[in-house]
Amino acid sequence: MSYKNILITGGAGFIGSHLVQLMVARYPESRIVNLDKLTYAGNLENLREVESAPNYTFVKGDINDPDTLDQLFEAYRFDGIIHLAAESHVDRSIENPMSFIETNIVGTVQLLNAARRHWKDFTGKRFYQVSTDEVYGSLGDTGYFTETTAYDPRSPYSASKAAADHLVRAYFHTYGLPVVLSNCSNNYGPFQFPEKLIPLMINNIRIEKPLPVYGDGLYTRDWLWVGDHAGAIDTIFHKGKIGETYNIGGNNEWKNIDLVHALCDIMDELMDRKPGTSRGLITFVKDRPGHDRRYAIDASKIKNELGWTPSMDALQGLRATAAWYLDNDAWLESVTSGAYRHYYEQQYANL
Ligand code: NAD
Ligand code: DAU
Repeated sequence: MSYKNILITGGAGFIGSHLVQLMVARYPESRIVNLDKLTYAGNLENLREVESAPNYTFVKGDINDPDTLDQLFEAYRFDGIIHLAAESHVDRSIENPMSFIETNIVGTVQLLNAARRHWKDFTGKRFYQVSTDEVYGSLGDTGYFTETTAYDPRSPYSASKAAADHLVRAYFHTYGLPVVLSNCSNNYGPFQFPEKLIPLMINNIRIEKPLPVYGDGLYTRDWLWVGDHAGAIDTIFHKGKIGETYNIGGNNEWKNIDLVHALCDIMDELMDRKPGTSRGLITFVKDRPGHDRRYAIDASKIKNELGWTPSMDALQGLRATAAWYLDNDAWLESVTSGAYRHYYEQQYANL
């Protein structure tokens, strides 16, 4: 399938900005419209490379505003929608669940309804819901999430994404809306807001602040290079079967403490610090409430049916990420000024 007018929501965020760059470059005959509210997590600096591309349009707006959606559908006659806009950070969802309900659940329904209003004929149309492996809950030491694992979300963030996924599937079964979904593991790479584990640790090592490891540090995540996720989304958008779900993962499990050790060693080397210096900043702190012990993805469906596999080597990816943040300290400084700095300074004062 090819699509002429593609709406990407949340395209100024971390994963969205990588996807927008990929789609604008790979599909010069298609118009890519990026609708983003520019919350604290959205940043047009992430999109400098494409901002003047002839097939790219940015619109500042909220997926919760049906008038904005109607105007955009009228103006651009979308045939494809890739929906990433979300509140995405688990710790924020624990502090303030309401914005997660509003954007992740209600906002997704506003978008589904707009597609139904404007798509008189579903032929050649596609609504793609970008979701997370966190909807599946928590694994023990063994086993993997597959596409048939029952949903068991345990944080307000994952519960809001699970609700949205159920609604997307409900619109497929009830109204025949042509949908496809993916559930992906933890992403890392350039342009990730430094509240998530990897960029938070890199930034704190850089400015010699404590490295807060939650609980015993033995929680496990499966890390995927963000460029690989963008490639998987493109593959599923164009080749995935309507009504289907695809799991995406990096086959790259790390216990948090091992990952933080690796980042410390890479940063010592890149910053010419004595080996072992950064490990001295590690501080074990109170655990995250409801902390999921382990996530691990079985990505054999997308590999066998669509031919996608991750390409980035784990240590090479971590090194490239650390180097990117060091080379882009102005970006880091700008996103960590103001409310961010105030919040974390209070946290570190208590360590
Ligand atoms: P992010 O927080 O970096 O970016 C989210 C973007 O959505 C921001 O640009 C923000 O301004 C925008 N946004 C928020 N509310 C909006 C609204 N109401 N209307 C319009 N735009 C709005 O998130 P991310 O890490 O890039 O994640 C993108 C998507 O991928 C999310 O749906 C997330 O659940 C999913 N996902 C993320 C990961 C991960 O590891 N980061 C893994 C799997 C799935
Ligand atoms: O699995 C996919 C999900 O990955 C995405 O859907 C989410 O949007 C994304 O935020 C991410 O969620 P996590 O909660 O797994 O990511 P986070 O980077 O917040 O935390 C990763 C692990 O590191 C987790 O076990 C908690 C731990 N952690 C995190 C932070 C921020 C720490 O030990 N210390 C920290 O300071």
